[in-house]
Amino acid sequence: MGLLKSLFVFNAFFVFAIYGKNIKVSLYYECLCPDSVKFVVNQLYPTYKDLGNRLDVELVAYGFAKTEESNNTYMFTCQHGPKECYGNKIHSCVASQYSIPEAIQYLYCAMSSGRGWDDVYLKKCATVGNLKWTEIQSCITSGRGDLLLAANGNKTLSVTPPINFIPTIIFNDEFNQTYQSESLIDFKKMVCELLDYEDPGCKENNEAKTTAISKCSDTSFAKQKLQLPVTMNFNLFFVILGIFVHQAVSTINVAIYYEALCPDSTQFITNQLYPNFNQLDRYLNLELVPFGKAFIDTSVEPNRVLCQHGARECLGNKYQACLLNQNKSQKVNVDVVNCIMIQMDPSNVEFIEKCGKLFGYDTEEMKKCAQGPEGDSLIKMHGNRTMELDPIISFVPTIIFNGAYNHADQAGSQYNFASVVCSKIQGQIPDVCRTAKEVGYSYF
Ligand SMILES: *[C@@H]1O[C@H](CO)[C@@H](O)[C@H](O)[C@H]1NC(C)=O
Ligand SMILES: *[C@@H]1O[C@H](CO)[C@@H](O)[C@H](O)[C@H]1NC(C)=O
Ligand SMILES: *[C@@H]1O[C@H](CO)[C@@H](O)[C@H](O)[C@H]1NC(C)=O
Ligand SMILES: *[C@@H]1O[C@H](CO)[C@@H](O)[C@H](O)[C@H]1NC(C)=O
Ligand SMILES: *[C@@H]1O[C@H](CO)[C@@H](O)[C@H](O)[C@H]1NC(C)=O
Repeated sequence: MGLLKSLFVFNAFFVFAIYGKNIKVSLYYECLCPDSVKFVVNQLYPTYKDLGNRLDVELVAYGFAKTEESNNTYMFTCQHGPKECYGNKIHSCVASQYSIPEAIQYLYCAMSSGRGWDDVYLKKCATVGNLKWTEIQSCITSGRGDLLLAANGNKTLSVTPPINFIPTIIFNDEFNQTYQSESLIDFKKMVCELLDYEDPGCKENNEAKTTAISKCSDTSFAKQKLQLPVTMNFNLFFVILGIFVHQAVSTINVAIYYEALCPDSTQFITNQLYPNFNQLDRYLNLELVPFGKAFIDTSVEPNRVLCQHGARECLGNKYQACLLNQNKSQKVNVDVVNCIMIQMDPSNVEFIEKCGKLFGYDTEEMKKCAQGPEGDSLIKMHGNRTMELDPIISFVPTIIFNGAYNHADQAGSQYNFASVVCSKIQGQIPDVCRTAKEVGYSYF
């Protein structure tokens, strides 16, 4: 312990000596607020991956809640109801019991499930992050969760000027509206500005990010995304009309072309596919194709695979291909792929193995497959499937319904996959379709 501690101090000193001071970031949020979800999933988490060692993050789950105290018992009223209070307590317990990287990973997992208050997900996220669910639960039953939430309430109310937007992001204990606004749009850029771009994480990522964006998505797609609300409704009208004209099949074939390290793929799988899958399962015949914009170089023997995000991505794709080849149910396949994709590093074999075990896959078989010729040929099969696409793949993930590319379906799926599926379901629709319709083409 002593040695570990001094190593840590040494390391901290080393970082300090080279790069200067860390930045303190306080995040005031609440677990059911869509803006908080967006910030955690799209801004905080990816930035923390790159620059975590430069940030001292403080997580304050409370938001616009209210606290009443009488006789040392706390009563909370939360903006989005009792579920939110519960979720916020769980988050507060995790933040106080575990390290900040663990808490952020947990926060990301819980928030990206779209059900940050649901024990099923809260527990699963604990398992995945190697946290003890029983410890987290006892924080709630012992009343410590109440105390933590009340303390977060005090902290939230003591901010000046008073918080009027959730999430609020404060750097080095001083609120600045410009920083707040910029953080919501591009948190990483904001952090890098404050670090004077002197951190390698900033440089590296600027390059990585531009290539990732230019390759993962093309600009015409980005443009169309902006016009989405209008065009989508219009297109949906025709899709729905089409259902009455054509006799649709009873099961919808959906193929998802994705790759292990593409943030858009993670976003789609964890925010769109996974949260709705229980209800949509029986309407879908799902095919998962982990390959994306990889390339098979057949000019050399043995053929070489080059992946968009490098060798680690190839490795990640291959492990997933090997798991999928164990022919479990499509539900379990979605579970395991989601579990892998929400990791900080979806190519980390240790985590892939953990996810595999969690959902009952044979992980010895998986390793044998991934390290041998079987994995190679599975990747080639997925490569062939991907190259058959017409038009050729320009955005990852690409979602194909019933074998034919359709731009409206593709664009709509990124924002509201359930709604696109629902538009193709005939007869009695599941409950999720009602919610999907209400939500429209917003984040979920
Ligand atoms: C607080 O506890 C005392 C003693 O148990 C009791 O008399 C009192 O009514 C309680 N007050 C409230 C507001 O519950
Ligand atoms: C919150 O602030 C109130 C008023 O200052 C104080 O009485 C209470 O003990 C604080 N609660 C916590 C949990 O810190
Ligand atoms: C916010 O930060 C900017 C840039 O450092 C500075 O110019 C501005 O005065 C700050 N605003 C407030 C309200 O402190
Ligand atoms: C899964 O199905 C594929 C294709 O039918 C087959 O090649 C493979 O051997 C099956 N895997 C297992 C573990 O049964
Ligand atoms: C992929 O396609 C190539 C060319 O059509 C073919 O030679 C190869 O056998 C296919 N590989 C797999 C695994 O299907």
